[in-house]
Amino acid sequence: MKKVLVLGGTGFVGKNLCSALVSAGYQVFVLTRNLTKARQVLGNNIKTLVWRGPQSLTPSAALPETEYIINLAGESIGEGRWTRQKKKRILDSRVNTTRTVVNAIKNKTLKPSLLINASAVGFYGPHGDEQLTEDTPAGQDFLARVCRAWESEAYEARALGVNVITLRIGVVLGKNGGALEKMQLPFKFYMGGPLGTGDQWLSWIHLEDLTGSIIYILENGNITGPVNATAPHPVTMREFCRTLGKVMGKPSWLQVPTTVLRLALGEQADMLLNGQRVIPAKLQDAGYTFKFPTLNQALENIIKN
Ligand SMILES: NC(=O)c1ccc[n+]([C@@H]2O[C@H](COP(=O)([O-])OP(=O)(O)OC[C@H]3O[C@@H](n4cnc5c(N)ncnc54)[C@H](OP(=O)(O)O)[C@@H]3O)[C@@H](O)[C@H]2O)c1
Repeated sequence: MKKVLVLGGTGFVGKNLCSALVSAGYQVFVLTRNLTKARQVLGNNIKTLVWRGPQSLTPSAALPETEYIINLAGESIGEGRWTRQKKKRILDSRVNTTRTVVNAIKNKTLKPSLLINASAVGFYGPHGDEQLTEDTPAGQDFLARVCRAWESEAYEARALGVNVITLRIGVVLGKNGGALEKMQLPFKFYMGGPLGTGDQWLSWIHLEDLTGSIIYILENGNITGPVNATAPHPVTMREFCRTLGKVMGKPSWLQVPTTVLRLALGEQADMLLNGQRVIPAKLQDAGYTFKFPTLNQALENIIKN
């Protein structure tokens, strides 16, 4: 049985990934800051170990020798206003956690052959209609700087003989949590519609395709470097809202003006008002078959089942 160590395994992506890994026959260990919460979220099939968080990898028990490490840990970017302190936590929680993992590989506390580290499509910064692949350089805004710093820390493990993959994840769509729950709320009250101009691109992925592609990467030894974890058919914000309204049986008419969003959210509004049209070139080249390639298929599955 192959062993996987997951950091950030109690989150929206992590808990679903852990259960998919167990179903696929992996033995899963989760390093968490909160053992009680982790046991509640993950149940008994997954061994949980507590650590002090990004500052030091001091687990409660000896760490297992795992072949794979998946690092998803990081302060939420969607919850709470982006104050100076919040932005510092967003950056530090990611960079310091990743550095701690790499240091543990350096001092041989951890001995993986593969490190899959989360990143995000925000790596590319704001773009227009052009299609972006893994070869597109990083952007310059706050999220792009966070992703670049986060990925750079992970790639330090390459010098230690570890295959490193950074997953540039799009907006993850799934049941019970994540961005979709928040996006559905105004539609439930017949107040749904695009944010800003509606022309900005939104690169998304169904949660099952995210966990499916991670398992595909574990089982296909040839993938390395940055990987766009997005569905092959990104959409504009206008199209996203139109499809969401259609699947929910609600209208999509109330456009939220850019100025209102900026006043309400400050700098965080940029994340919603700008976007990027990302193509999963490497996953497609590697032969991964998306279960939900189009938004309509994904939303029908999540909302109607
Ligand atoms: N969901 C999306 O749409 C999306 C899109 C692009 C990229 N991503 C990236 O993918 C990763 C997983 O996403 P998610 O939606 O599952 O995130 P999430 O639900 O917020 O979970 C993240 C996990 O990270 C740990 N964590 C939270 N704050 C932390 C801090 N300050 N320091 C260290 N660890 C902390 C927590 O685990 P413990 O409490 O157990 O320690 C938490 O369960 C994140 O890094 C996120 O940036 C997600």
